[in-house]
Amino acid sequence: MKFNIIRRIWQLVITLGATSLAVYTPLNIVFKLTSNFSIDVFYWLVTILFTADIIVNLLFPQTEISRMYNKHELRIQYLKTWFIIDFISAIPFTLIFTLPALGILRLVKLIKVGMFFHSLRQRAIRVADYLLLGFFIFWLFLFAHWLACGWIYIRNIPDPVNNVKLYLTSLYWVIETLTTIGYGETTPVTNLQYVYAMIIMLAGVGVYGFIIGNVANLLSKRNPARNQFFNNLEQLKVFVNYRKIPFNLQKKISDYYSYIWKKKLGFDESVFISGLPQGLQNEVSVYLKRDILEKISLFGRVGDDFLRDVSLHMRPIVCVPGECVFKENDPGNEMYFVIRGKLEVISGKKTIASLTDGDFFGEIALFTEQSRRTATVKSITYSDLYRLDRELFVEVLKRYPAIADQIKKTAHDRLGSEIKEN
Ligand code: CMP
Repeated sequence: MKFNIIRRIWQLVITLGATSLAVYTPLNIVFKLTSNFSIDVFYWLVTILFTADIIVNLLFPQTEISRMYNKHELRIQYLKTWFIIDFISAIPFTLIFTLPALGILRLVKLIKVGMFFHSLRQRAIRVADYLLLGFFIFWLFLFAHWLACGWIYIRNIPDPVNNVKLYLTSLYWVIETLTTIGYGETTPVTNLQYVYAMIIMLAGVGVYGFIIGNVANLLSKRNPARNQFFNNLEQLKVFVNYRKIPFNLQKKISDYYSYIWKKKLGFDESVFISGLPQGLQNEVSVYLKRDILEKISLFGRVGDDFLRDVSLHMRPIVCVPGECVFKENDPGNEMYFVIRGKLEVISGKKTIASLTDGDFFGEIALFTEQSRRTATVKSITYSDLYRLDRELFVEVLKRYPAIADQIKKTAHDRLGSEIKEN
């Protein structure tokens, strides 16, 4: 873990080195910067840094999820692949040869910067979309800087008075062209300048589309439950107009959607979880449901194994006020756990008990084959329940006799007679 953090910091330092080189190199080509102490120190620093990067990669080769973990094999792999890029970028071309344009070769290191950004996005899943935008803006500014230098190069102004002003006006022109704003104060003169300007304009359309698309995507993904809520309301609008649904029924439906949204239940997690391997499915569902399951007094003292077995098979359901979960004499094949809400148990016309957070009901169906419900259970408020099918629960109970006994005892007390297990 610690080693990973050090590696990330190292990659960040390399990224800074590669970025400053990517800024410096085109400036050096177009303005033919005269060598001075600070520039030389900077150039040597980057060279030392990139050489050290080769040594770091050889000493501590990076493991990959899908590959072998043998260090020797990883080193050979590195020498056959990324080494060439690291090696070229570590050569101080400008100091060896007097041709500044050769320095462009060193910018191959930016490929590794791209890889670093990619790995960050894979790790930081929660903020991956923000990182994508952030990295895009990073590349955009670097790209704009190169284009600005390229514009200065092809305009070839002899002995410019003020280099900073020249650079800034070029960058200004590039950005206004890239963002498709284009005020048109600077117009191309030569054929090459026309072609250059056209290419930037076309690239600008892509840049614009990418930004708009990604921002929209980002906003739509911020809150899936909210999206689901608004989608449902949209559908409701169409539906009530088409089928002329009465006002009080419309209100009930929209109240239900509001409740689902507030409780963050509108996003079906089970669809996502079912795509994972079994072991991970268990782990994720225990994480999501642990707090809730621990509130159920029956499960209070059981261990992680039990939670793991049971949580994956729990299906959340919501009952609206006045809704009957089931009616007396209905066939019963599942039992329920009350997460939140208030319900009444009604036998004939008489309310015989009320149920609330942490209670369970419908358990009698688990002990008798094709049993009929002994009472009606009606939801008084909005109720969040977890439903567990008989087959799965019986399976789990076989492994946890203490819980089976407790449920049996409750059922016995409620029925006032002996329960015969099927
Ligand atoms: P079941 O018969 O499957 O369906 C109706 C449920 O109501 C029953 O299981 C019990 O879980 C519950 N129930 C019946 N009688 C009582 C009671 N006296 N107190 C609380 N719950 C009850």
